[in-house]
Amino acid sequence: MGNSDDRAGKAELDVLLQTEQTFPPPPDFAASANAADPEIYARAAADPEAWWASWADQLAWITPYRQVLDWSEPPFARWFDGGTLNASVNCLDRHVGAGNGERVAYFWEGEDGSRRVITYGDLLDQTQRFANALRGLGIGKGDVVGIFMPMVPEAVVAMLACARIGAIHNVVFGGFSAGAVAERMEVSKAKALVTADATLRRGKPVAMKAEVDRTIAAANSIETIVVVDRCDTDPPMQPGRDHLWSELIAAADAFCEPEPMDSEDPLFILYTSGSTAKPKGIQHTTAGYLTGVTATHRLVFDLKADDVYWCAADIGWITGHSYIVYGPLANGAVSVLYEGAPNYPAEDRWWEIAARYGVTIFYTAPTAIRACMKWGVEQPRRHDLSTLRLLGSVGEPINPKAWLWYHAEIGGGRCPIVDTWWQTETGAIMIAPLPGLTTTKPGSATVPFPGVEAKILDSSGHEIGEGGGNLVLTKPWPAMARTLYGEPERFVSTYWERYGRDVYLVGDAARRDEDGYFWIVGRIDDVINVSGHRLSTMEIESAIVGHSGVAEAAVIGVPDELTGEAIFAFVTPVGGVVGDDDLSAAIERHVAAKIGKLARPKRIAFADDLPKTRSGKIIRRLLRDIAAGNELGDVTTLRDPDVVAQLQRQIAAPRSG
Ligand code: PRX
Repeated sequence: MGNSDDRAGKAELDVLLQTEQTFPPPPDFAASANAADPEIYARAAADPEAWWASWADQLAWITPYRQVLDWSEPPFARWFDGGTLNASVNCLDRHVGAGNGERVAYFWEGEDGSRRVITYGDLLDQTQRFANALRGLGIGKGDVVGIFMPMVPEAVVAMLACARIGAIHNVVFGGFSAGAVAERMEVSKAKALVTADATLRRGKPVAMKAEVDRTIAAANSIETIVVVDRCDTDPPMQPGRDHLWSELIAAADAFCEPEPMDSEDPLFILYTSGSTAKPKGIQHTTAGYLTGVTATHRLVFDLKADDVYWCAADIGWITGHSYIVYGPLANGAVSVLYEGAPNYPAEDRWWEIAARYGVTIFYTAPTAIRACMKWGVEQPRRHDLSTLRLLGSVGEPINPKAWLWYHAEIGGGRCPIVDTWWQTETGAIMIAPLPGLTTTKPGSATVPFPGVEAKILDSSGHEIGEGGGNLVLTKPWPAMARTLYGEPERFVSTYWERYGRDVYLVGDAARRDEDGYFWIVGRIDDVINVSGHRLSTMEIESAIVGHSGVAEAAVIGVPDELTGEAIFAFVTPVGGVVGDDDLSAAIERHVAAKIGKLARPKRIAFADDLPKTRSGKIIRRLLRDIAAGNELGDVTTLRDPDVVAQLQRQIAAPRSG
């Protein structure tokens, strides 16, 4: 909680900087919105179980559930107990069964310009075949299957195939290092890994399979690796263990009986960063998760049958799970799936794609919006974006300037913006406008979704009606994480002890304004949000210290115009060595190999020691002040006051490199 005071101060400033402008729903949008009756909030609050059940009842059940919610042993909720269903059936079979097999599920666009149109029928066919292939490889209900893939349709198929046979998928973001993959496979005891030969990065294939081979021995539970041929790079294959996706699919039976899953059976785990170096395996279940993503996707994005929806996140994050795969497919949406970077080969790539498919709903992160601002208004203006009718934002607080630019330049001033606050742990959107009902304020995620109850508490647990404090969720919701994979005690201690077993501690500081709107300020734990990606300071520190030239390291997040926050590392080299550019570069390479490029420090400052109290505790607050170039108070009580001056000299000096 150390920096929550700083956060509150920052919040104050942010609020002063907020624009006074508000944006009521455009009347024509409101008139035809999926959520058009303001009473929806009061009704859901009066009987949240009935509200969530009304959504669960729209799913395809194999056996109906008996009880909506069992909250008798918080924080371990049980939703829709007694029911059985299958997520892949809900995403595929029921649409195909209703005669929509020819409906497009994804317009896929490769980074290299290749295109594929994948219908619900195609997706069901591929899913059943790959599900059979997995079964043939000895994978069954409850087994963990890793997925480390580029943004290709096979990644979606792999997820759904796991769901079909009751295997638990564990997707690792394709930008993570092979070391991070091996760690996540090891801790989840994964039996199989699905990967690709390589992934395209700005036109060049970057090996995935060969990289995985270097590290995967650490995960000795892995019996099988399936390789999708994305880039035709002829990867090394180990006979007996490794299989080509194409060969498995060709040999597989076309029909695969779906596994009936209990409502509470796990659908997937997804590792995210926490306060310690060890990532947390967030575990989601079948029925509650599907209920949450279905409801939020339909209402927050106002999804209609003729929409072309595009979530530009990566499948490797929760946003991809919930709003590229499960929510849109459960709702039968027509989506765009794009493999590459927004500025490859040119800075108008996104807008070119949006215009080609007539995208109507577009969902991305503030960091990407800020990058687009930097590339200039000419880029979107070159394309006809008049089909857009709704814009979304996720992953970090959106600064009003970016919000207003997004609204004017991408939305043509006519599209409501839904700023959606949620987390890997919440599974689905928790605080966001309903675009036909909620007047938006740039920078605020506005109000909790119907049925969700959020509060701001002070350190002693008193509710703050108006003002800043710790954000909590005070009612269970169906898509809530059920536990941390294999670590139930850590689940309780991380989220459910601060204010009691029935109050979910979010880990964000937030404030509430006079209208009851929520303004998310940032994390209260040692998590840094770089371009909407959660990274743990401890995880980065332990990667840096793993370099042989480093004795000690401390990492903080500093504000960054483009990425929201950036990583700043303070490092003490071993044996009195003076840190230089070579050591910086070596540390960066080391972190990229250990975690992934996204965890590389943006800046490194070296000193003989770190600023510590006499008892040896690193004073992070002081590091923050040093990084910001702030005046420091009395530092004579430090163990070694000289290090502060050493560090300050480096911050003041022009950056090299
Ligand atoms: O700090 C909040 C920030 O991202 C954290 C969750 O990160 P992750 O689990 O990776 O999920 C990101 C995508 C849902 C939150 O604790 N965050 C997410 N959305 C917003 C946000 N902060 C402000 N506004 C948002 N809309």
